[in-house]
Amino acid sequence: MRKSGSMLRRLGAVAAMVAAGVLLPGGSALAQGKLKVGLMLPYTGTYAALGNAITNGFKLAVAENGGKVAGRDIDYFTVDDESDPAKAPENANKLIKRDQVDVLVGTVHSGVALAMAKVARDNNTLLIIPNAGADDITGPLCAANIFRTSFSNSQPGIAMGKVMAEQKKKTAVTLTWDYAAGKESVGGFKEAFEAGGGKVVKELFLPFPQVEFQSYLTEIAALKPDVVYVFFAGGGAVKFVKDYAAAGLPKTIPLVGPGFLTDGTLEAQGEAAQGLLTTLHYGDGLKNPKNDAFRAAYTKAYKIEPDVYAVQGYDAAQLLIVGMNAVKGDVSKRAEMVKAMEGAKLDSPRGSLALSKGHNPIHDIYLRKVEGKENKVVGVAVKNLTDPPRGCKL
Ligand code: BEZ
Repeated sequence: MRKSGSMLRRLGAVAAMVAAGVLLPGGSALAQGKLKVGLMLPYTGTYAALGNAITNGFKLAVAENGGKVAGRDIDYFTVDDESDPAKAPENANKLIKRDQVDVLVGTVHSGVALAMAKVARDNNTLLIIPNAGADDITGPLCAANIFRTSFSNSQPGIAMGKVMAEQKKKTAVTLTWDYAAGKESVGGFKEAFEAGGGKVVKELFLPFPQVEFQSYLTEIAALKPDVVYVFFAGGGAVKFVKDYAAAGLPKTIPLVGPGFLTDGTLEAQGEAAQGLLTTLHYGDGLKNPKNDAFRAAYTKAYKIEPDVYAVQGYDAAQLLIVGMNAVKGDVSKRAEMVKAMEGAKLDSPRGSLALSKGHNPIHDIYLRKVEGKENKVVGVAVKNLTDPPRGCKL
């Protein structure tokens, strides 16, 4: 049948609209276009390696999902937050207002994350936190649009406080950077250690991200506690563990901490880290099929060994995928998406992972011992640890 000129013109217009995605059913991935993911992480400074590992882990999970999320390709928008809380509101606003991201993923530093969470709440932007443990974010400041796939700061501290009390240590000195992560980590340790009969005799602090430890080591040597608990991570953890060993302290005063003290750092810490006990929700040699597959895929893709930060980035993407699949990629269906994420049971390299009411992981906290270049799991310090109720009103 011959078609009239106007009919041909109309068919041409329809074809053009289909190509642009305008006339596709609203739910189709093509019609929705690319998913905009804002990665706000540290790529410079003492936490740079952590930001890179999170990015790698996130992208690995997406690659394993066919390079897409609910059928949608991804556009990444990346900001180096420099672990600087003062710059955080502007950085988060840039991603939300200028780049119009659909989801914000970040960050490492608790002070930066607290500022991001405020911006995310103010704009009702979906935020997935792949590290920063600030207790309040999943406590009194919890929100429907904010999720965390890492831990809360007090969790590993609680576990180590319990283990040290069980080992009949009586006195402890703590040392950390003076900001939310350090204070809450030490707070968790103190709470559990003292509940088990121990006493924290001195709490020492230095400003983030300073690494001049000498005067603190002198003070620790003079105090002679049964154990020293510290929170440091990234470059700071490398320097502290080496300085502690160089001061000859490990022979008389055991050093312990949350696993950040020795995760992703063993290559640089070398001999100084051998035998250190830490507590964390992950360990290199964890025996489960997911961890075996994750470690093989990560090492193949990036030519380096993964660490806990890579796991947390991987799980951030896994959680996003659960939410996106539930709404077939339509992020406007936020309530449905949140419901699916709240009910997610992730097959994480750390073991199974569920979320608390405040959207924080409920997971096992392992006791680990450094052997060679591995944080070897030697036991479970606390099974299925969830946060104490801290005023979340969800
Ligand atoms: C934090 O600031 O919450 C943090 C940073 C590094 C490792 C663990 C926690």
